[in-house]
Amino acid sequence: MDNVLIIGGAAGIGRKIALAFAESGNQVAVADINQAAAEEMIQQKAEKHRLHAFYVDVSSWESVEKMTGQVIEKMGHIDTFVFSAGITKKLGLEEVEWALWKKTMAVNLHGLFFSVKAIAPFMIKRKQGNIIIIGSGSAITGSGGGIQYYASKGGAFGFMRSLVKELGSYGVNVNVIAPRVIESQMLDSLYPTEKAKQEMIKEIPIGRLGKPEDISSLAQYLSKKEASYIHGQVLILDGGRTYQGK
Ligand SMILES: NC(=O)c1ccc[n+]([C@@H]2O[C@H](COP(=O)([O-])OP(=O)(O)OC[C@H]3O[C@@H](n4cnc5c(N)ncnc54)[C@H](O)[C@@H]3O)[C@@H](O)[C@H]2O)c1
Repeated sequence: MDNVLIIGGAAGIGRKIALAFAESGNQVAVADINQAAAEEMIQQKAEKHRLHAFYVDVSSWESVEKMTGQVIEKMGHIDTFVFSAGITKKLGLEEVEWALWKKTMAVNLHGLFFSVKAIAPFMIKRKQGNIIIIGSGSAITGSGGGIQYYASKGGAFGFMRSLVKELGSYGVNVNVIAPRVIESQMLDSLYPTEKAKQEMIKEIPIGRLGKPEDISSLAQYLSKKEASYIHGQVLILDGGRTYQGK
């Protein structure tokens, strides 16, 4: 049984990852700016004794540091940390205001930095751990979200690679899962109609949208000892779309 922390675990991909880890018998801390949604989700689950809700606003260092302390106090240590918080808005250069740029960077990129900075020292101390960052294939293709989003997600690739040597030497693995078009609230906001979704599916070689469980099963695999040679990678989950030029 492992201790797992999911930031951004109250909805979408993070929620599915949190529930999958709990269903396989792990202790799971679900940290989110929407703590009420995390608590509500936990109450509905048979595994509620293994799921614990925490408040965090990842755009604030103080908030991330406080939440990390609370999780360590509750669980003792963290084996696997998944960063799944993120925001997006589909806008072009002329439409993106400075405030939206800053807000997106604050959540998607500064939040990632604050979280890893707060959590990794506890893994380094134990000389073991797994960090899984939910990035996005849009950082490769420049499609799907808006310019502020691609920039933040591209930053996450560089951030992860900058840690490969430093964390690897302490037995801490770090990887990015880069999904594309996964059924979620975020996808609904980008492709709000059934017609828009059907058009999108035509671009996906395997002929369907991704599902949160496609991500959670990979996250669970990455957390296992058998996957310890997977380190410093961007793993694209896209149904084959990216290298078809879409
Ligand atoms: N859904 C997709 O198709 C898709 C594709 C590629 C990448 N992604 C990435 O996957 C991750 C999860 O996306 P999702 O679709 O599950 O989104 P979602 O909107 O369903 O969930 C995001 C979660 O992050 C939380 N959050 C937002 N701001 C926060 C903050 N400041 N502090 C703490 N928590 C905060 C939200 O409350 C929510 O629970 C994001 O990083 C997203 O960019 C999603």
